[in-house]
Amino acid sequence: MRGAARARSIAVADSLASAAVEPLLAGRFGRPYRYEQSCESTQLLLEGATEGAVAVCDEQTSGRGRLGRSWQAPSGTAILCSILVRPPAARRMPELSLVGGMAAADAVEQALGLTAQIKWPNDVMVNRRKVAGVLAEARNGAVTLGVGLNVNQTRDELPADPPSPAASLRTIDGVERDRAPILAVLLDRVEARYDAWCGAGLDAIYDFLGARDFLRGRRVAVDGLEGYAVGIDRQGRLEIDTDRGRRSFESGEVRYER
Ligand code: BTN
Repeated sequence: MRGAARARSIAVADSLASAAVEPLLAGRFGRPYRYEQSCESTQLLLEGATEGAVAVCDEQTSGRGRLGRSWQAPSGTAILCSILVRPPAARRMPELSLVGGMAAADAVEQALGLTAQIKWPNDVMVNRRKVAGVLAEARNGAVTLGVGLNVNQTRDELPADPPSPAASLRTIDGVERDRAPILAVLLDRVEARYDAWCGAGLDAIYDFLGARDFLRGRRVAVDGLEGYAVGIDRQGRLEIDTDRGRRSFESGEVRYER
């Protein structure tokens, strides 16, 4: 099967093949645009690419999540993409997950007309469920920013027991969507948020982030330390008030009270 072939059909025209997506792209990101029907992981397709190069597929045989987890979505149901960036040396790499997360939140908000939140450091949440995740992998000064955005999965097609309960745009509002325009918005927003961050660091996006901080005020545990999340600081770390005082985390696995 070629290009736009899908494992099942949906009610709308839907393809992430070059012919469907490239005409919708207005900026630098998505050039070059590489589409594969199936691949191991889009994170592996951008070695040596120039900034703004994008790899997209309909199905991953070994999709990667954060902290060594896998990332799964039935063929043709989600946006699975990776974007290659080459950030200035002055910028802090851990902040890139937040930059990507905010761009994904922009795209989700535009598609749904609902406010999305960011669960530090990389999850996009709507109605307390995770609709998208970001994976930033650095190598030789380049960062591959992977975004998985759940679009048309039914409830049964979402992971059964993920660390955060999962949702797709479809399970939130019942609408099946063409993924191409959502991907085009996503790439446009990644470019805009990334450019702002390159120029001014996290300050460029800090207010947006604060207004969408999912964990703030929640009872959380990070790497075994429990407390209440204070928020994300100016360096992109999660601050927690614990019995032993305030602690900041650069990375880690956050569990939260639901
Ligand atoms: C997470 O929430 O753990 C991050 C998930 C990132 C998944 C995306 S899907 C496209 C890209 N290719 C991968 O193998 N992973 C990322």
